[in-house]
Amino acid sequence: MIELDRLPFETKDYEEQTEIKHKVFREYFDKWVKILGSAHKLNYVDGFAGLGAYHKNEKVYFGSPIIASDVINKNGKEAWLLFIDKDKSAIENLNSVIKFNGLDKLKNLKINVINQDFNEIMDELLNTKNIENAEPTFVFIDPFGFEGIHYETIKKIMQTIKKPEIIINFMFNSITRFLEKENLEDTFAKVFGTEDWKGRVGDEGEREKNIVDFYVSQLEDIKFRIPIQADISRQKQNVLLSHSSYKASFRSFDYEI
Ligand SMILES: C[S@@+](CC[C@H](N)C(=O)[O-])C[C@H]1O[C@@H](n2cnc3c(N)ncnc32)[C@H](O)[C@@H]1O
Repeated sequence: MIELDRLPFETKDYEEQTEIKHKVFREYFDKWVKILGSAHKLNYVDGFAGLGAYHKNEKVYFGSPIIASDVINKNGKEAWLLFIDKDKSAIENLNSVIKFNGLDKLKNLKINVINQDFNEIMDELLNTKNIENAEPTFVFIDPFGFEGIHYETIKKIMQTIKKPEIIINFMFNSITRFLEKENLEDTFAKVFGTEDWKGRVGDEGEREKNIVDFYVSQLEDIKFRIPIQADISRQKQNVLLSHSSYKASFRSFDYEI
């Protein structure tokens, strides 16, 4: 049995919803790596990387940055990886998890860890074109809640990166809870990409469905094609929305809760 308190890093409770999210992410990302990794080096951006490790029944499970690295390794591919989190302690912990797994020593992985806001760093990167546009790029957008996802950032990714692959974990349930708060009006305008969101989300009964439908329609306006819209929580809290530049390849993708 692993003694969690002897690990050189912190772990968080591994909730069922996180476990399902990781299962879907691993399966999807593995497919993408297999399809695109044969002809290219790959870029992976984890916009909300988290602290890197979880526990359940005394067992350790790793977060999305480590899962992505593991998938690239198992497929014998090369990649440039960017792990972003605005929380300094999460980033420090993630660095320890990376070391613990020996990922910093691998020649096929060029890992960059950044303590900054996702929208800010993406803006800088996309303006300076530091993301090597010749390579296929996968962006995983997985915040707590909804504030961290700015529509303008998604738009810029869609317009600047050639053939991006994107997964957004869209927590519509937390939006419903905060909808009435006046001081969040600007935040919602940033998330939906319009001041006009109020009229579109409707009355309480239908709200959750309206929010997802409206957000999806906003994404479709920037040519975000959605082959997968996966409910990943039994409590109906969030939905994974993916944009694939390789639609046909992902038709057979399947997931189970
Ligand atoms: C749900 S956790 C990420 C979990 C991780 N993707 C995984 O699957 O293991 C969300 C993380 O996003 C970070 N975060 C929240 N808002 C952010 C922002 N605007 N920019 C960057 N990181 C942010 C939080 O500090 C937190 O660590």
